[in-house]
Amino acid sequence: MRILLTGAAGFIGTHIARQARARGHEVVGLDAYLPAAHGPDVAPDPAIARRDLRTDDVDDLLVGIDVVCHQAAMVGNGVDAQDLPAYAEHNDAGSARLLAAMARTGVADLVMASSMVVYGDGRYTCPVDGDVPPAVREDADLHDGRFEPRCPRCHGDITWREIGEDTPFLPRTSYAASKVAQEHYASAWCTLQTARAIALRYHNVYGPGMPADTPYSGVAAIFRSAIARGEAPRVFEDGQQVRDFVHVTDVAHANVLAIEQVAEHPAGLTAYNVASGRTFTIGEMAATLARAAGGDAPVLTGDHRRFDVRHVVASPAAATAGLGFTAQIAPEVGLARLASDPLRTR
Ligand code: UD1
Repeated sequence: MRILLTGAAGFIGTHIARQARARGHEVVGLDAYLPAAHGPDVAPDPAIARRDLRTDDVDDLLVGIDVVCHQAAMVGNGVDAQDLPAYAEHNDAGSARLLAAMARTGVADLVMASSMVVYGDGRYTCPVDGDVPPAVREDADLHDGRFEPRCPRCHGDITWREIGEDTPFLPRTSYAASKVAQEHYASAWCTLQTARAIALRYHNVYGPGMPADTPYSGVAAIFRSAIARGEAPRVFEDGQQVRDFVHVTDVAHANVLAIEQVAEHPAGLTAYNVASGRTFTIGEMAATLARAAGGDAPVLTGDHRRFDVRHVVASPAAATAGLGFTAQIAPEVGLARLASDPLRTR
């Protein structure tokens, strides 16, 4: 197959290109080489077209393409409200322009990077009210060290549960809002073009080539960078927040499977959670990394961030049934390896 891969120079894109080529596919790469992601003195790979989806046409690159694999995005959670326009421009306007170009050039199969952040706080079970989204956590509770969310109706204790792809969207950050919008644009494009899209909702991706700590980095990069500086990872809240850490090679494999099978999917957008299927608390994850690095034990700070969700875990069962995807790297193995994996330092 001939694939147009956007974000080809990025953390996940690099792994997708390698795996797709190893399976005999031809990969045409494009990347904007944004200074925020690649540094001001970036030396672009001449094999990757330098294009910015916000402003540059890509019709020429789409000629003869079977599937577009769209990874280019501004990532992170967003630091403050001033980031909103940049997320909208990169992730939403950029994707909309790509979809319009695909319509002009007759490319009808798309695989796109989405995220579990579309689910926001996930879903919980309340002994009184049943299945509920949790209430937004109150400052007073957080200051008192009560980090578990409450039932939005009875305000009592609730228990998190694993969620499926039919869970309602509840975006809590600029990035999450942009990923929800991106899925909606892709879905509208499918209707207009009788086209097919697969949205892969990634959990917390980690592994070799991960960008080092920036204000927009996720927790695995932050902890790994702290260890590289000889510092202990600083764990927020009580360290009991639950996530699913999925290795970048597993995420790349899910993309290759989706690329190979999107044409057999029905018209419209199909979403799959991409996760290891194994939960880890942030405290366990920090301890695993610190142990593997032989560094100082993690520090529990008790700090909290307003926009953080407490627990979010989505089931990868649909990706197993629909794509034949199962993660191969157990988080305790991959996270221990992350202690010595090279990071991208821009
Ligand atoms: C992360 C990504 C998000 C991505 C999603 C799924 C970022 C900033 N967030 O969201 O873009 O879509 O995974 O792949 O890239 N924490 C600490 N210490 C720190 C930093 C964070 O304990 O120094 C804790 C936070 O309080 C939180 C957890 O780690 O409970 C995860 O934080 P983070 O990785 O920033 O955000 P996610 O919500 O998991």
